[in-house]
Amino acid sequence: MPSAHNEAAKAVKKAATGAGAARATGLAGKATSRLLPGAYFRDRAVLITGASSGIGRDLATTFARMGAHVALIARRKSVLEDLAREIEAAGGTAIAIAADVTRCDEVRKAVERTLAQFNRLDVLINSAGIALPSAVETIPPEDLERMLSVNLMGTLHAMQAVLPSMRAKGAGSIVNIASLAGRRGMPPLGGYCATKFAVVGLTEALRVELYGSGIRVSLVMPGVIDTPMITEASGKDRAKSLPESMPAMPAQWVTWAVIAAVVLGLTEVDVPPGAVVMEKIAALFPSLTDAVLALGTQLFDWMSRQS
Ligand SMILES: NC(=O)c1ccc[n+]([C@@H]2O[C@H](COP(=O)([O-])OP(=O)(O)OC[C@H]3O[C@@H](n4cnc5c(N)ncnc54)[C@H](OP(=O)(O)O)[C@@H]3O)[C@@H](O)[C@H]2O)c1
Repeated sequence: MPSAHNEAAKAVKKAATGAGAARATGLAGKATSRLLPGAYFRDRAVLITGASSGIGRDLATTFARMGAHVALIARRKSVLEDLAREIEAAGGTAIAIAADVTRCDEVRKAVERTLAQFNRLDVLINSAGIALPSAVETIPPEDLERMLSVNLMGTLHAMQAVLPSMRAKGAGSIVNIASLAGRRGMPPLGGYCATKFAVVGLTEALRVELYGSGIRVSLVMPGVIDTPMITEASGKDRAKSLPESMPAMPAQWVTWAVIAAVVLGLTEVDVPPGAVVMEKIAALFPSLTDAVLALGTQLFDWMSRQS
């Protein structure tokens, strides 16, 4: 329900920021005491894929600030090591593990290393993802395959790798960062939408499979967020890029949504809160939604050309 989401977002925003808590960026050099006010996740182990950038990076710094031991997963090792050092300098605990989520063996090893280091794994957050915008009519099949291998298969690999330890414990949280694009197809993101629809289906089915197991599975569904993914997808080729004038929300909003999902055990949290209502209305009137999206796309394109 939208009101519940709003309340949840407010509650976790308070918990995540805490009195005088460090900002999400630039943690290095901040006093250890700044970690303490929001230490809700003290000593819990959280594994985050896609931690080297954007939403994953913000999640890592925020969970660390709230007392969690964080395992940082992505391909760029030096970026992860810098982030781990930043978190440690602020009094947190982090390990950097270079892994390609499309590689099942690498993901399994990353999970094994996390369990060996922290002796537990409480939360998995799947944030690794790529977006290669293109019209469906002309999308190179290999682009869709690449997106599927990271966005869908990467999520599957990580979920399958953590489930044995969570099953043994009878507890745990899995949060998959899907997208509002996983509920409604729209250009120029047809291929990306398809991968996120698939993530939604996989997540919902797993949630039912795990019913009563003590393991919670949540979806976080962001709209447009200000991260390198969006900057990089707003290129020169209009047929293949997002409109530059598209308004974007800060990554911290997604972090609050993830914390709400974990703390309150919510099945789905949309960013911004209440987007679910629009989504349901749109699903009731598909033809009207098509027309609105088509006009909106043309308007954004026109605005981009003016700027
Ligand atoms: N930004 C938005 O508007 C938006 C909206 C809705 C949903 N989302 C979703 O939110 C998630 C995070 O996106 P973001 O905006 O934070 O993007 P981002 O800044 O581009 O970060 C993407 C992350 O994924 C990692 N990654 C990509 N391919 C990988 C691979 N094969 N193996 C391991 N890690 C890989 C990247 O690290 P390396 O390059 O170091 O591997 C990076 O850390 C994605 O799932 C995205 O689809 C984003």
